[in-house]
This record gives sequence, structure tokens and C-alpha cells, in this order.
Amino acid sequence: MKTFSEPQLSLISETTKLPDEIANFPRFRYMGSKFRLLPWIHETLAEIGFETATDAFSGSGVVSYLLKAMGKQVRANDTLAFPSVLTSATVANNATRLNAPDLELLLSAKARSQSEQFIRKTYEGIFYTPEELSCLDDLWSGIRQLESPFKRAMALAALLRSAIKRQPRGLFTISDPTRYQDGRRDLQLNIREHFIEQVAIYNAAVFSNGQRNSVTSSDVFHVNPGSDLVYMDPPYVPLADDNCYIKRYHFLEGLACYWEGKELMMHTKVRKIVKPFTPFSYRQTALEAFDRLFRHFSDSIQVLSYSSNAYPDLPTLCSIMRRYKKSVEVLEKNHRYHFGTHAAAKRNVVKEYLIIGS
Ligand SMILES: C[S@@+](CC[C@H](N)C(=O)[O-])C[C@H]1O[C@@H](n2cnc3c(N)ncnc32)[C@H](O)[C@@H]1O
Repeated sequence: MKTFSEPQLSLISETTKLPDEIANFPRFRYMGSKFRLLPWIHETLAEIGFETATDAFSGSGVVSYLLKAMGKQVRANDTLAFPSVLTSATVANNATRLNAPDLELLLSAKARSQSEQFIRKTYEGIFYTPEELSCLDDLWSGIRQLESPFKRAMALAALLRSAIKRQPRGLFTISDPTRYQDGRRDLQLNIREHFIEQVAIYNAAVFSNGQRNSVTSSDVFHVNPGSDLVYMDPPYVPLADDNCYIKRYHFLEGLACYWEGKELMMHTKVRKIVKPFTPFSYRQTALEAFDRLFRHFSDSIQVLSYSSNAYPDLPTLCSIMRRYKKSVEVLEKNHRYHFGTHAAAKRNVVKEYLIIGS
């Protein structure tokens, strides 16, 4: 099969070289992704002694992938379904790739029954052209025919990344598929063309670190707390704007499970699904949630990513962590988030923290 390589950001930090595998990580445009902070996170983690690690809020999966590349036994978790597909393909999966017959099967499958044409019928005129909506249904009916769970995860991850690349701003908030056509390659390729490329990209990302890594998709408080180290990157209560993952990525969340068990809001312009509650996103519940989080993982070394533009503030968080950990250390870095317009981006220069409790 043809391999396709994408230009990658240079991720070499000044002092510690990132593991080579990181260059193959299929970067996912995800709100709050720590991709750009990876050298700093790596440097910090490399100084700590641990064998097993939980990435409790895995999101794009990039920190789980780093931990895997560092040779740790990784447990990746996120409450949403699609981040778990991404980590199943890249973190739990040590060896399974999609071969030429698999790709042939996926590209030749046809969604025949009414129930297999859900996307075309539900999202008509929204996000994609009619041909692409049908292509998503067709690819999904091919995915159903794959027997190996890791092959399914690989094909689904490729489908998810195709779907987000084909969206102008990597978000599912604007329905018109023709807006923002600015000639970018990602917008010129159709879903099928993207999918073929993404299969090769995910194949190239597969590697074994000799460990049994695992993935769960549950609320953090249901995660087994038994790892040596827990990395925590929860959503923040924002001081401005909002931080709703479902508003931005509802289509990916539905696509990850073909909307099975998801409650669709048909009255919304973009056919959103109902937002799951998380206590980390609200002022009224965040303090109690952090207390519960640090208590839940009280036997592990704790590494929390946090930023200055969030509630609660740093001293409050540290004092909550001190209830459960003897030593609490804070590392700080300036960081610019690349979300929003230029003016908004200026506002988004924030201090990033790594709060380490041991
Ligand atoms: C800031 S993002 C994590 C980003 C990730 N570290 C990365 O680099 O891509 C926060 C994640 O927490 C997840 N989340 C929110 N509430 C949760 C909960 N109660 N339990 C587990 N995950 C949760 C969200 O779905 C989201 O993916």
C-alpha cells in the first residue's frame, strides 16, 4: 500500500529529545490539545520514576501516545467515545494495520438498508456534499464487516480524521458545506480521498512498546485508580467563551458509534447530540470535582495540566491537591492557543502549568 507522509511540526525540545515515534502521531485538531506542549510535558515526565500511567482525560490521545512511546504501560480514558477510538487505534493497538484487502473491502462496501443510510438522511445539506454523506455511510457499512476490533478502530480513526479535515475550521458548528472554501488541500479532497490517505497515516502510527496498553471510555470517577502516575487534563471552567466539546465535535462523537444510543436534537441546525454533564465545566461544581479527582487518584503521582485563564485559580487548586499529596510542585510556561480569530488569539496567551503532586 502507498504510504503518505504529512509535514510534521518540529517537536524537538531544547534539552530532551522526544521519542522518535511521536513524529508519526496523526495530529488531531482538538480543543485543549497538548500537542504543542509535548516537549515540555515529556521533559517533566522523564524526570519522574513510574512504570504505569493513566491519561484520565485523553482527548486527542497525544499524551497517551507520548507515554506509550516512553515505554510505559498506558491506560487511556475519556468520557467521549471518539477520543477512545483514537487511542484504541494508536495506543492500545500494538500491531494491527489495515492491509490492501481491508482497504478494498472498505472502499467497495455499500450502505443498502435504510438504517445504514442514517448519515445521508439526517445531515442532508449539512457539513458535506450528498456524495460525501453517502460515502460516510458506505465506509461505515464496510467498517461493520471488519471482524478485528483493532481493525475497526483503525478504520474508524481514519474516518474521524477524514471527517474533521474536511471541515473548514475543524469544528461542527457551521452547517453550510460551501462556506470557507479557500483552496486548501484538505478542503479540495473528498472524504474518500482523505480516507485512503488517513488509513496509510494510521498504519504508520502503529508501534509496540511491549506493554499491554488499554483504553476506556467512561467518567473519570469510574476509572481504576491503580496506576503509578495519573496525568490529568480536564476541561476548564473558562473565564470567557465556552469549552463545550459536544458543540464542536458532536458529529465525530456520533460518527464514532454510528449515533447508537445518542440522543439527536433534530431541532438544531446542525443536528447536535445531547451534551453529557461534566462537573469540571461549571463554577458551582468544579471545586468539589477537583477534590474528588485528587482523592480518587490519591495513591498515584499526580500530574495536572492547567492554565491561567481558568477557574479555579492556581493557589486554590494547589491547596486542594495538598489535601491528598505531601508535596505539590508547580511548573510554568507561556503558551499561545491557536483557536479563534487573530484578535481572540492575542487574548489567548496564557500561562500553562503542570502541577505535580507526589
Ligand atoms: C482538555 S481535553 C484533554 C486534551 C488532551 N490532553 C489532549 O492533549 O488532546 C479534556 C477532555 O476531558 C474529557 N472529559 C470531560 N469530562 C470528563 C469526565 N468527567 N471524565 C472523563 N473525561 C472527561 C473531554 O471529553 C475532553 O476530551
